Amino acid sequence: MISLLHKKILLGVTGGIAAYKAAELARLLRKQGAIVKVVMTDSAQTFITPLTFQALTGEQVHTRLLDPDAEAGMGHIELAKWADLVLVAPASANFLARLATGHADDLLTTLCLATEAIIAVAPAMNQAMWRNAATRHNCSVLAARGIRIWGPAVGEQACGDVGAGRMLEPADITQQVADFFEPDVLSGKTVVVTAGPTREPLDPVRYISNHSSGKMGYALAVAARDAGAHVILISGPTSLPDPPGVKTVRVETAQQMLTHSLETARSADIFIAAAAVVDYAPMQVSAQKIKKEDHQELQLSLKKNPDIVAAVAAQTPRPFVVGFAAETENLLLHAKNKLSRKNLDIVIANDVSDTTIGFNSDRNAVWIVDANGETAYPEQDKGQLAKVLVRDIAKRLEQRNSKASRGN
Ligand code: C5P
Repeated sequence: MISLLHKKILLGVTGGIAAYKAAELARLLRKQGAIVKVVMTDSAQTFITPLTFQALTGEQVHTRLLDPDAEAGMGHIELAKWADLVLVAPASANFLARLATGHADDLLTTLCLATEAIIAVAPAMNQAMWRNAATRHNCSVLAARGIRIWGPAVGEQACGDVGAGRMLEPADITQQVADFFEPDVLSGKTVVVTAGPTREPLDPVRYISNHSSGKMGYALAVAARDAGAHVILISGPTSLPDPPGVKTVRVETAQQMLTHSLETARSADIFIAAAAVVDYAPMQVSAQKIKKEDHQELQLSLKKNPDIVAAVAAQTPRPFVVGFAAETENLLLHAKNKLSRKNLDIVIANDVSDTTIGFNSDRNAVWIVDANGETAYPEQDKGQLAKVLVRDIAKRLEQRNSKASRGN
């Protein structure tokens, strides 16, 4: 059960067709016990009326920067100070641009400049507008400034297009708000995450690799960061940007990933091996490009790569070690074998034979396997799942530490 009892949420509504969903969001936040004050931009009011929000929140709705009545009561600075969280949903492309450049020419942008509360935005726009370089740039500026960007979701849009740009559903945003107010369960802890594939070179232009996108590992790194941890992400080659607030180390080969893992895991509390490490590397790497004219047949000799997670788990002292098992059959059996063979604390197991989840997908469903059995985590967005997994891992670390201190 999520609860937002007495949390003060300033809900900014900007102009977009998703503005009608903000009414349901206001209702859900209220239902969880939050106090919700709504600020609307001019264009938001062309989609939905202030009266709707007033009825749903039981609070006066604010629409103007220099409103004599409002300034006498709760002016923009007062509103900015009042909020525990400023949540803008939907956040239009125009609003994101104005926020990124620090505009202060209407009530909502001024509030955002004046507030010391965290600002979260739930973008909603056409998929091409979301993909546009200007919006991408604005979002990276906002993220670097610590502004939380929740969503957008992928799917069919009001204009008929399909792609990323839909506002997250009100229930998902409410869950994000609840997660935001959760205590920092990993405060003061160091978490190392490996992610993505590795690349094992054959010659200067060719390599052996796999289809890992790195999305699950990056989502875990971000979730650990949001839980208050100092996070080091050791990433093989991916197309994902470095997550803000996470120390990202880019590597290519399994050997490089091993070196950085052993070095950083020594002072880590948790090590999460989400990388899809290539199992075999060529025995020899040709210094020059291998020419097809020179070979009618080509035999490759491969050597086994080091097992990074097992090497970390073999160290003393060692962090809490989390391995992954991506399997196409006998999932739980393989996961249990991995747990004992590699001496891991838990294994997160997922079925990669289902192409709708896992590897390149934005969604995943997993099991957590430990020495006592297994727990199922149903299919959900990787970011949301990462949060749940991080909370579970934090709880297990605490149990292990308190057991150890009782034993001493
Ligand atoms: O042995 P297998 O690849 O199935 O095990 C998967 C788990 O082990 C994952 O957590 C993966 O990150 C880790 N692993 C590793 N080094 C390897 C192979 C796998 O850390 N060489």
